[in-house]
Amino acid sequence: MTSQDHKRTVAHGYDKIGEIYGQQATRSRTAQRAKYERVLLDGLEEGSRALDLGCGSGIPTTRRLARKFRVTGADISEKQVERARVNVPSAEFICSDMAALDFPPNTFDGVAAFYSIIHLPRDEQGAMLKSIASWLKPGGLFVASLGIGDTEVDYDRSWLGAPMFWSAYDAETNRRLIDESGLQTVSALEETTYLRGEEADLHGESETFLWVVARKLR
Ligand SMILES: C[S@@+](CC[C@H](N)C(=O)[O-])C[C@H]1O[C@@H](n2cnc3c(N)ncnc32)[C@H](O)[C@@H]1O
Repeated sequence: MTSQDHKRTVAHGYDKIGEIYGQQATRSRTAQRAKYERVLLDGLEEGSRALDLGCGSGIPTTRRLARKFRVTGADISEKQVERARVNVPSAEFICSDMAALDFPPNTFDGVAAFYSIIHLPRDEQGAMLKSIASWLKPGGLFVASLGIGDTEVDYDRSWLGAPMFWSAYDAETNRRLIDESGLQTVSALEETTYLRGEEADLHGESETFLWVVARKLR
C-alpha cells in the first residue's frame, strides 16, 4: 500500500463515519480537548488568524475557535468539509491533504491539529511540522495531539464502521521532530483518557496522546 492508498482510506473513511465521530467528539476526551482549545483561546487575540488542520466536521473545535478567531479549516475528506461548511458558516474551508497545503510564510497566528496528524503517514509528519512552523507568524502558537505508538501502519478494517489508517512515532521522536521544525516547545505531555462502556468497546480502555504546545520564535 502506498501513502496515497492510506490517505484515500482515511478520506473515504471520514466521508462515511464523520457524523458519528463528531457526535463522539462532543462526549469523549472532553477534558483534554477543552484544555488545549483553551491554550489557543486564551493565548491569541480576538480576530487572530487560525488554521485548523484536519478540522473534521467542525464540531466541536473549529466552531469554538471561530467564535473568537478568523478560522481556515482544512480536511482531506470531501464530506467532512461539506459538514464543516454547514456547521461553521463563519469559517473558510479547504478540502485538501494537509501535506499538500501551501500557504505563504507567516500567515497564521495559531495552528490547531487535534487528532489529525496521527492519520498522516509518519514519514511525512516531520515535513508537516516544518510547514506549520513556516506558516506561523513569529510568536504564533501550535497546539496538536500527536501519537506515541511507534507504529508505521496501524490499520483497522472497521473503525466506527469504516476502514481506517493511523501512523505515529514514539513520543521522544515526536519531541525531536518539533525541535527540528524550528518551533520552540512550551509543553509536550503524554495525556491519557480512561474510557468506559460503549466508548471503551470502540477505542479501548485508555488512549494516550502526546499533546504539544509550541511557539514560533520571534
Ligand atoms: C479524528 S478526526 C479529528 C477531527 C477534529 N480535528 C477533531 O478534533 O475532532 C481526523 C480528521 O483529520 C482528517 N485528516 C486525516 N488525514 C488528513 C490529511 N492528510 N489531510 C487533511 N485532513 C486529514 C480526517 O478526514 C478527519 O476529519
